[in-house]
Amino acid sequence: MGLRVAVIGLGRGAVLTVPALAAQARIELVAGCDPDPAARAGFAARHGVPACETVEALLANADFDAAYIASPHEFHAAHTLAMAGAAKHVLVEKPMAVTLVEAASMIRAAETAGTVLMVGPSHGYDPPVEAAAALVASGAVGGVRLIHAFNYTDFLYRPRRPAELDTARGGGVILSQATHQIDMVRRIAASPVTSVRAWTGGWDARVTEGAFTALLFFANGAVANLTYSGYARYDSDALAGWVGEMGGAKSPAAHGQARALLAAIDERQAKAARTFAAGAVSSGASKHHERFGSVLITCEQADLALTPSGLDIHADDGVRRVAVPLPSIPRAGVAEAFAHAVLDGWPVPFDGRWGLESLAICHAILLSAREGRDVTPSELYPNVSERTL
Ligand SMILES: NC(=O)c1ccc[n+]([C@@H]2O[C@H](COP(=O)([O-])OP(=O)(O)OC[C@H]3O[C@@H](n4cnc5c(N)ncnc54)[C@H](O)[C@@H]3O)[C@@H](O)[C@H]2O)c1
Repeated sequence: MGLRVAVIGLGRGAVLTVPALAAQARIELVAGCDPDPAARAGFAARHGVPACETVEALLANADFDAAYIASPHEFHAAHTLAMAGAAKHVLVEKPMAVTLVEAASMIRAAETAGTVLMVGPSHGYDPPVEAAAALVASGAVGGVRLIHAFNYTDFLYRPRRPAELDTARGGGVILSQATHQIDMVRRIAASPVTSVRAWTGGWDARVTEGAFTALLFFANGAVANLTYSGYARYDSDALAGWVGEMGGAKSPAAHGQARALLAAIDERQAKAARTFAAGAVSSGASKHHERFGSVLITCEQADLALTPSGLDIHADDGVRRVAVPLPSIPRAGVAEAFAHAVLDGWPVPFDGRWGLESLAICHAILLSAREGRDVTPSELYPNVSERTL
């Protein structure tokens, strides 16, 4: 039997992920939900299924088993609770929620309902990350010692909603972008993060965090160094032959124009232009994997560099290129994992507990930067019950 999925929030995130859900053989897209009539119309035209204005109307009118929640961060908890209350399984976008209290309530709701709660997609699911994690877990290159993740983008100067530029509502680069790097390095290091020391920066008209650097210390002795800037000047995709985040080719000529483009147009309209509301589509299958900046993993016996095609293993006897098979469509693995979790009872790569821990690391970055001290992420959620965690 297949999995009937409804999509809540028909914006940019949904444009990028719905094609993988629609292409998964055991998933049937049955409905959408968005307060914006243009988004509903665009989704219905593209996928041939109706869309409702509210979550309440969706629950009342559509017959479905699971929801992919891609509404803005601040609605993730309420939408997950509404779905779990109706015994629907949930795939919720990253970050799982804005606050840790919300995240814990989502875990409890799914536990009570006996439903699947999966967090994603994030770049922690990218096939080269999965391949590096599997190689490390095999023991073939020794233990992980140091992971370096580095990304310079135009995140802050893509068209944004006000909440995306408001730290208190989950805006800025920490919850939206650090989450990707955190998921990648956690998957590879495969050990709890015991301590975080970070700096964040915000220094222009977009008043929120636009850059950060953080050291994550893992229980197994590994350390990760994450650096990110979203100020739209240097673009680190230059280091990967101009292969962009979704694995497609980028034009070096377009580099650095984000600020000028944004200054010349209405931001609300520009935001809508990237969504179903304006008929936007994902770039679809591409020649390379999805990626999120540079990632270099130093193990005891080799250095592993993630590449757009897979990974390069730098060992004492030279460099070995490992081509990781491309999925039929970006994010196919996420859709497949969700189908397996619900229909076959398989464990999900990133469950509610995983999402809460990644969110706690985001908050540890913010707190460490604010107070100039080391922060233990698990100390940020002392009231979440032992049974849940
Ligand atoms: N994994 C990824 O690669 C990726 C990429 C983009 C966005 N995202 C995530 O997706 C989420 C949405 O971000 P976005 O960039 O798509 O924003 P967006 O503004 O493009 O889209 C949000 C959509 O949600 C709708 N919405 C608002 N309130 C709603 C409600 N109460 N019920 C249903 N829909 C509602 C809006 O009308 C809009 O269509 C965020 O959590 C973001 O982190 C993930």
